[in-house]
Amino acid sequence: MISVDQLNQQFGIANQITFKAGPGDLPVAEIANRYATAAVSLHGAQVIGYQPRGQVPLIWVSNFSDYRQGKAIRGGIPLCWPWFGPHPTDSSKPAHGLARITMWEVLSTGVMAEARTEIRFGLRDDDASRALWPHPFVLETVVSVGPDLRVELIARNTGDQSFTCGAALHTYFAISDIDHVSIHGLENLTYIDKVDGDQRKTQQGPITFTGETDRIYLDIDDDCLIYDPGLRRRIRVAKAGSRTTVVWNPWIDKAQHMGDFGDDEYRTMLCVETANAADDLITIPPGGEHYLVTAISTGPA
Ligand code: BG6
Repeated sequence: MISVDQLNQQFGIANQITFKAGPGDLPVAEIANRYATAAVSLHGAQVIGYQPRGQVPLIWVSNFSDYRQGKAIRGGIPLCWPWFGPHPTDSSKPAHGLARITMWEVLSTGVMAEARTEIRFGLRDDDASRALWPHPFVLETVVSVGPDLRVELIARNTGDQSFTCGAALHTYFAISDIDHVSIHGLENLTYIDKVDGDQRKTQQGPITFTGETDRIYLDIDDDCLIYDPGLRRRIRVAKAGSRTTVVWNPWIDKAQHMGDFGDDEYRTMLCVETANAADDLITIPPGGEHYLVTAISTGPA
């Protein structure tokens, strides 16, 4: 594996991008610019921090996360790919696919228009990926820190047969208190209720939380908004390449049963995920590609 010193020599940018050994000795790119600070782990090409200047952190990471190669980091923005949730036919395969549990390569870094700071990661099929999923592919992830945080996942089919994949930019947001936040923009949509036998239901009004919530909202390509009066903050989640939005909070029992999640941490986190799940799986022909993008920004509530 490339060393932190080599990463700094090849890809470091003075005062903007520094590579360090992060928790569990996994290499992390730390980004700082006029807009925000952010951190991205090479393990999973996973954003593990984002804090706009003058605000408390926007992205949540568990204090109990297990930082180890091959293990998913609990929090940040895990990249779920090439399947979302459990593997459709083989429960022995890792939940949410292989991308979040694999080390990625840094491809480039740069300072872009509007003084945005960008880092680009790559991953391609190898023996380990083919043991889990038999298709040739190239993935790229672009993390861009500017007035908003933008994450792109680009999936290319480098084989000679079509493949079908699911995905999610599984974003964990930091919130003041789950009892007081609400999500707007998903009203009147059909959702699959994963905590009620996958029944399809219709969302009445904004989403509020009183128990375990695990839902796939269908046919939605619009932004949604998280209102957090406790932090006097409104978070906008914009997206492209996605027609499903997943909303997840494990609540009390599930939190207690997860080894990498504190018993009370469900109160201060909420996942709103830009996804290709359920009815929204993506078929990519040979030579084709799919862009999945989320842009996260904040304003006053
Ligand atoms: C959500 C799923 O996206 O991720 C939930 O909808 C799942 O069903 C949650 O429990 C966390 O998954 P994991 O594999 O990171 O524990």
